[in-house]
Amino acid sequence: MKTGFKIVICGGGSTYTPGIVKNLLDEKELRIRELWLYDIDGERQDKVARIVKEVVRTFAPELSVFVSTDAKEALTGANFIMAQMRVGKLEMRVKDEQIALRHGCIGQETCGVGGMAYGLRTIAPMIELIDLCAKYADSKHWIVNYSNPAAIVAKATTLLRPEARILNICDMPVEIEARMAEILNVKLEDLEVDYFGLNHYGWFTKVRALGEDVTEKLKEHVAQYGYISKASYEDALVKDPDWLHTFKNSSVIMKMFPDYLPNTYWQYYLLGDDIVEYSDINNTRGMQVIGGREKRVMEAARRLEMGESIDLQQFFVGVHGKFIVEVVKALAYDTRSRQLVIVPNNGAIENLPDDAMVEIPAYLTSRGPEPVRVGKIPRFYKGLIEQQDACEGLIVEGAIEQSYQKILEAFTMNRTVPSANVAKKILDEMIEANKGYWPELK
Ligand code: G6P
Ligand code: MN
Repeated sequence: MKTGFKIVICGGGSTYTPGIVKNLLDEKELRIRELWLYDIDGERQDKVARIVKEVVRTFAPELSVFVSTDAKEALTGANFIMAQMRVGKLEMRVKDEQIALRHGCIGQETCGVGGMAYGLRTIAPMIELIDLCAKYADSKHWIVNYSNPAAIVAKATTLLRPEARILNICDMPVEIEARMAEILNVKLEDLEVDYFGLNHYGWFTKVRALGEDVTEKLKEHVAQYGYISKASYEDALVKDPDWLHTFKNSSVIMKMFPDYLPNTYWQYYLLGDDIVEYSDINNTRGMQVIGGREKRVMEAARRLEMGESIDLQQFFVGVHGKFIVEVVKALAYDTRSRQLVIVPNNGAIENLPDDAMVEIPAYLTSRGPEPVRVGKIPRFYKGLIEQQDACEGLIVEGAIEQSYQKILEAFTMNRTVPSANVAKKILDEMIEANKGYWPELK
């Protein structure tokens, strides 16, 4: 019998793949038999695969890497499928951003109208992937999904495929925790947090470092400096000017709403005017990623093809790969690691609907997540979450029913859109821009 796991990275052509593979290889306890990259864009994936093969050659030369555009071949017998698809690629991210900004709204990958547009592109391909995994993968497979927009994807997959072996996750909280660790001068592993909300829409209610409650200490720091410390300035993520602005913005939110430590994504919902003012329609975040991270990856692939050497280190930034691998390891070996994941509420937050997809701590077992109980939350937070949950629910229902009306309701309801007039104008433009990607709305 073959031992070890077959791991498939779905969306193998992503710029994140080399970094994630490095994290997989670092985890010596995780016995990998075969590593597969799977993507529907073979040309792009082949380029990224060159870097991946270089990473494997350097850090685990004994491991076999396979690259495929064929779902059956890639998924057959797979134990873990790491899903990171970006439907419409970065080009569509830029369109989402620019259409929103043209109408004075925040133009963002996962929040506001951009996030809803991206959701409408991603629901059907994610369901297709789940079905392919059910058909070809090992019967005990797990899909670890971090395809965005995770909130809408989680809501749709749970509603449409409730039995699917999928766990939806996002690395933002853990990226924030890494900054918290820097601020406190402790190791990330030494932190334990309490947290509640929706994806890209939540708060840390308590932070413990080696058992000591450090919440108030952190709040004071964040109110003054945001999620930035002296040590953070050495951090590759924080060196990115946009992320620096984002981590600093948490200070404004912390001062106004001192109950809990905010997720950085609150800037889009609470400081929309600042964000629109800060944004440049001719240099959106998507454009920056195309001209930055993506260009670096493609350039490195080209150099490898020419037989030149490259610096692999540049692909190993942030803690997101480490977190994803930690989740895979927990599902594989029943480690009961405590992580923030996106799960059906089912009473965990007492005064929210059962079918809200909430981001809360859970102990990860080989049978899936065992979420903790959060209890009742105050009215301000409850109101914000209910509005956003209704909005995301309308996107999912609208996609299933192909209902223009429901999507218009969702756009109108979103906090980042000032009026139904603006919602309708943006929606009509987005329908045109997303031809071939969105379900046809009637
Ligand atoms: C964080 C979020 C992801 C998001 C990413 C965007 O990691 O959790 O959901 O995709 O940031 O980063 P970028 O550098 O592409 O703007
Ligand atoms: Mn995320």
